Amino acid sequence: MMQRYKTAEEFLSLRRPVDPVRCRRPFAVLRAADWFHNRFSGELIYAVKANTSPFVIEALNASGVQRFDVASLTEVETIYHSVPGAELFYMNPVKSRAHIRSAYFDYGVRTFSVDHVDEVHKILEVTENANDLSLFVRLHCNDRGSVLPLGKKYGAEGRAAVELLQLVRSVAARLGVTFHVGSQALEPARFGEAIHHAADLVRRAGVVAELMNVGGGFPACYRASDPVDLGIYIDVIETAISAMPMVHDAQLFAEPGRALSAEAESLIVRVDARRGHELFINDGGYGVLYDAANCDWIFPARLIGDGGACYAEGLEAFSFWGPTCDAADRMKGPFLLPGHVAEGDYLEIHKTGAYGSVMASGFNGFGCYEEIELEDEVMLSNFLPNYEAASVG
Ligand SMILES: Cc1ncc(COP(=O)(O)O)c(C=O)c1O
Repeated sequence: MMQRYKTAEEFLSLRRPVDPVRCRRPFAVLRAADWFHNRFSGELIYAVKANTSPFVIEALNASGVQRFDVASLTEVETIYHSVPGAELFYMNPVKSRAHIRSAYFDYGVRTFSVDHVDEVHKILEVTENANDLSLFVRLHCNDRGSVLPLGKKYGAEGRAAVELLQLVRSVAARLGVTFHVGSQALEPARFGEAIHHAADLVRRAGVVAELMNVGGGFPACYRASDPVDLGIYIDVIETAISAMPMVHDAQLFAEPGRALSAEAESLIVRVDARRGHELFINDGGYGVLYDAANCDWIFPARLIGDGGACYAEGLEAFSFWGPTCDAADRMKGPFLLPGHVAEGDYLEIHKTGAYGSVMASGFNGFGCYEEIELEDEVMLSNFLPNYEAASVG
């Protein structure tokens, strides 16, 4: 039975854990999904890779999410067994033959993405020329302004994209178009540009599409300077979408991972040593704080029990070291905390729900987490302002 507390303070008044603690907030997942349902006119697909925890999947499903972007056969199996009737979108543009075969024949997957003609032929061969496929052509797009660009790896371009669209149109039951503007895309204009660019290629190919998927990339607000209002992104998408040559009853999708899961979790860590303004904490780059170490991510953090939120006056800049012996296990920050933080103190690091627990390894024998549920509010929530939070708490 999951222990539930109002706040991290209440939990620490009863326990002084040695290991880091993952703190779930299912209400925040429901709230994020509700926000998209209310604001976005298309259908929501959850990118499972961001957080595979059953409580996240359950909360999303409870909010009405029935479509899931899966990147591997393991993710196919996880969602197939945990969400009966879910529609699976196998959106990794490169898949093994064995995984395509099993996804199609064992799990009923009919939707795949491709960014090369070879992948189309592979899917056709493996599925024995199936005539019930929905194939999304993954197009290259400008991902400038995103913190984690994906464009170097995936996406058809120019003449090759046009030929791929024509080939898919001729073999698939439904033609889809998709792109990814990069994860934590800080500039909403990229979505509009990507839609116009895709529309251009579809027109050059002389085809029409039934499906349009604007991908993920919707940012979470980690720092006060990050975008809070995702409504701007939706407005840009819905204004641009009319440019796309599509059939009259075409379906529009978005495929967020981060935006739906970032607020699902926070992490309680303990300070095991202090050296000047460097804190040695009990989780790090080989754990939930992977992005803090590897992408210099600055999560909102607070000293538990101090009453203060981050970005308040008088805070000082700290960097963190993780618990492993690797010097790469460093989180440069700056994380803003009260100057008196000391060994034995506990910090709560917020918005660790996306690409956190899924990245954690057991390197050096670390990676054990206790899990609890908390009821209090998320620091720097994207979904609080102007949101009528009927279901919070
Ligand atoms: C195909 C695809 N869709 C969606 C996502 C989710 O992106 P984000 O978490 O930035 O919303 C990713 C992330 O890598 C992806 O590769």
